[in-house]
Amino acid sequence: MSRIAYVNGRYLPHHDASVHVEDRGYQFADGVYEVCEVWNGHLVDERRHLDRLERSLRELRIAEPMGRAALSLVLREVVRRNGVRDGLVYLQVTRGVARRDHVFPPLGTAPSLVVTARRADRAAQEKVAQQGVAVITVPENRWPRVDIKSISLLPNVLAKQQAKEAGAREAWFVDAQGFVTEGGSTNAWIVTRAGRIVTRPAELGILRGITRTVVMEVARALGLEVEERPFTVAEAAAAQEAFITAATTVVMPVVVLDGRPVGDGKPGPVAVALRLKFHDFAEIA
Ligand code: PDD
Repeated sequence: MSRIAYVNGRYLPHHDASVHVEDRGYQFADGVYEVCEVWNGHLVDERRHLDRLERSLRELRIAEPMGRAALSLVLREVVRRNGVRDGLVYLQVTRGVARRDHVFPPLGTAPSLVVTARRADRAAQEKVAQQGVAVITVPENRWPRVDIKSISLLPNVLAKQQAKEAGAREAWFVDAQGFVTEGGSTNAWIVTRAGRIVTRPAELGILRGITRTVVMEVARALGLEVEERPFTVAEAAAAQEAFITAATTVVMPVVVLDGRPVGDGKPGPVAVALRLKFHDFAEIA
């Protein structure tokens, strides 16, 4: 099945799908995005993703490209046209196309909307999860508004490339006080030797991950304690377990941190249980 992308009102063959050279997303990274998991042909936590999208748009004063019901239809149509059963759907909204000028374009400039979808190899992902992944740490160098899911991701791109070149899957940003903020495209978690799950408060220099929100519910339902507080790299290095969460990875055990094993160097029981139960708690529609 050939891939199809939605671009500003049209469903186009993926290889022909493009936006104007003066799209503000292209020229200024002036836009926002969401990534939603597709699981057994259904969208996972669509409501929360669209809530967050609306918030990101509001914070940046970008107009909504269409109403929520219409957007939901487009997401589903892109998933359907691409025959995605397991994978993800990506949506991006920018401030639209206008003559290059840093200030906002003239009132009434239509925002641009792009939606794509792609399949994931669930068996391959499970294999990765069974082994766990390596993470490196890098200095935090992003702007303070990382609560907005902006497409301006250059520090994330560089951090993740650095991780890849070090044989790792993710890079954790570390703030000036030595506390881990989050990963380049994931939220960061540890499980202390006392069995407490720790993750940074969403108000403090991270994206409020949708997976993070659901994982907290799963943890509580499993009778596990979650502490929302910053943790240091040293605390993570001494932790029983570590893991990362995102729509693209769900719960992924971290087994190596900066080249040294975390816990016994294998995926821990907490991360494994949270991963296993995640879809029982997510909203799947
Ligand atoms: N990233 N933190 C950052 C910086 C992220 O980019 C993401 C998601 C998350 C996790 O958020 P959620 O659980 O809502 O996916 C945290 C997406 C998946 C990406 O950029 O591909």
